[in-house]
Amino acid sequence: MEYVTLGNTGTTVSRLCFGTWRFAKRHGDTVETDREEAHDLLDTAWEQGINFIDTANVYGDPNGTSEEWIGEWLADHDREDFVVASKVYFPFDGWGEPGPNDSGLGRKHIRAQIEGTLERLGTDYLDLYYIHRWDENTPIEETMRTLTELVEEGKVHYLGASSMAAWQLTKALWTSDVEGLERFDVTQPMVNAVQYDEVSDYLDVCADQDLAVCPYSPLAGGFLTGKYERTGDGGFEAPDGSRGSLDEMFDEYYVTERAWDVLETVESVAEEVDATPAQVSLRWLMEQDEFTCVPIVGARTPAQLEENVGAVEIDLTDEQFERIDAARSSDD
Ligand SMILES: NC(=O)c1ccc[n+]([C@@H]2O[C@H](COP(=O)([O-])OP(=O)(O)OC[C@H]3O[C@@H](n4cnc5c(N)ncnc54)[C@H](OP(=O)(O)O)[C@@H]3O)[C@@H](O)[C@H]2O)c1
Repeated sequence: MEYVTLGNTGTTVSRLCFGTWRFAKRHGDTVETDREEAHDLLDTAWEQGINFIDTANVYGDPNGTSEEWIGEWLADHDREDFVVASKVYFPFDGWGEPGPNDSGLGRKHIRAQIEGTLERLGTDYLDLYYIHRWDENTPIEETMRTLTELVEEGKVHYLGASSMAAWQLTKALWTSDVEGLERFDVTQPMVNAVQYDEVSDYLDVCADQDLAVCPYSPLAGGFLTGKYERTGDGGFEAPDGSRGSLDEMFDEYYVTERAWDVLETVESVAEEVDATPAQVSLRWLMEQDEFTCVPIVGARTPAQLEENVGAVEIDLTDEQFERIDAARSSDD
């Protein structure tokens, strides 16, 4: 494993972060990753040198289960070995129905959620706390002030921002600067070799402001591994049990004409460098030169995770890098 300084922070992380969104994720009677599998995946991540773990208060059914399972696992490890990130914003259902203040970025919700998150993770601080989305109903100054208090109280080390418009990210940074508050150091947009142009303004802000970028869904939910087969009728065949076979949103999110074009190029580069499409897709992100880029991989099995970590070992030439870029924009 290689390690990198996370943007402007003084924290060092592995070149890949491990994401735990699918822990306790239910599809009817099927649980995508159960407790034992979750702990096996965390073991593999750690054995592979990954020290950076991503979760959110709302991950798992019921919400909070992902944090809880990580907390159980962390209890048998040295907390100081890990950089742990969580998030706040979405309605938190816990074991019941969310109430009117159980979502958003107001002081009341953030202060309640950080306590639940720390308790479930069994820790007294988070290395990184993201706002999961932008809250149109709360002045950003209240949010940044509340988050600043958490930093001052030692409950959170650094602040992060996930999906939002470039102007919202800019406004939050500006508010921090003029009000003398803590600012975001890390971002978490959806970025992969297919979906990049949609967030290029956001990424320009990250580059300009030296914010680290931790892309989520770096493999487009598994599409960029090449395991989905195109069928003649314009559809696709998904392997049994894969996300594409379980998740209704998969098609709409990830399977576009552009995605097939990018995949074809990624597969040809993979053959040239004797790697897999997943490794090439991750390497393409890690080699972004405008900002520190630490993809959040979301493997389902230890074997997938080991394969993905292999991205650290490969190199792409400028020509290969540009060919993947060109495939993405070829139908514009
Ligand atoms: N901030 C946000 O709003 C947000 C949103 C989404 C995710 N995230 C974070 O980002 C993390 C990663 O997102 P993601 O799970 O969408 O990432 P992804 O890397 O795009 O997709 C991961 C999925 O692809 C499949 N896969 C991964 N490696 C594979 C391999 N080598 N061979 C075959 N299949 C492979 C697995 O699914 P199957 O085997 O089931 O097909 C796996 O669950 C999440 O865990 C979460 O921490 C954040």
